[in-house]
Amino acid sequence: MKIFVDSANVEDIAEAVSLGVVDGVTTNPSLIAKEDVDIHTRIRQICEVVDGPVSAEVVTTEWEAMVEEGIELSAIHDNVVVKVPIGSAGLRAVVKLREKNINTNVTLIFNPSQALLAAKAGASYVSPFVGRLDDIAVNGMEMVADIVQIFENYDFTTQVLVASIRNPVHFLEAAKMGADVATIPPPLIHQLLKHPLTDIGLEKFLTDWHLSASSRSMGPWKPRKEIK
Ligand code: G3P
Repeated sequence: MKIFVDSANVEDIAEAVSLGVVDGVTTNPSLIAKEDVDIHTRIRQICEVVDGPVSAEVVTTEWEAMVEEGIELSAIHDNVVVKVPIGSAGLRAVVKLREKNINTNVTLIFNPSQALLAAKAGASYVSPFVGRLDDIAVNGMEMVADIVQIFENYDFTTQVLVASIRNPVHFLEAAKMGADVATIPPPLIHQLLKHPLTDIGLEKFLTDWHLSASSRSMGPWKPRKEIK
């Protein structure tokens, strides 16, 4: 499974990339707005720190304007993927952008039928939002399972990019279901690495080692700082 970072913060993205597990980035208008920066500038900066697809979302609502905006966004860098919302305008824009060999990511998907239509239109990626469904007591990962099955049934090349991931369970379930990509907020990457038994085991290894070392008079040992 590919892992994308869901963020428009260059420092957070660069730090995540340094871990060696990041394959791309997704942004959205809210994430860009949080950075208070021009989208073209920020998308270019992101493309310079990650070697992979970078989703940049249009903010126009008519299909012709989406196509124009998408062409401008794709001109920023070869890795730019143009994000459009699911809907009639979004699908018309996907068709036109595909004719120009511009990759697209159809976003704000909340049921398998929307994903199927986006794949039929030629989207490069579909972004089912699992967390926002969970937030209203609907099982978001069941939607992902249905999308993965439908795409396998008909050999769609459109990639399932699981988005709105809130926790490690979403991430793990996406991998178990065979989703192509999970896009996750930077803090979740670190959360996925943590386990209390890892911390306890490391502390014991080092304690045993240093106690042994000090008993072999290899110099005074100072206990490590409290693991946070
Ligand atoms: O960026 C797309 C998606 O990941 C946003 O998720 O957390 O705003 O529901 P969220």
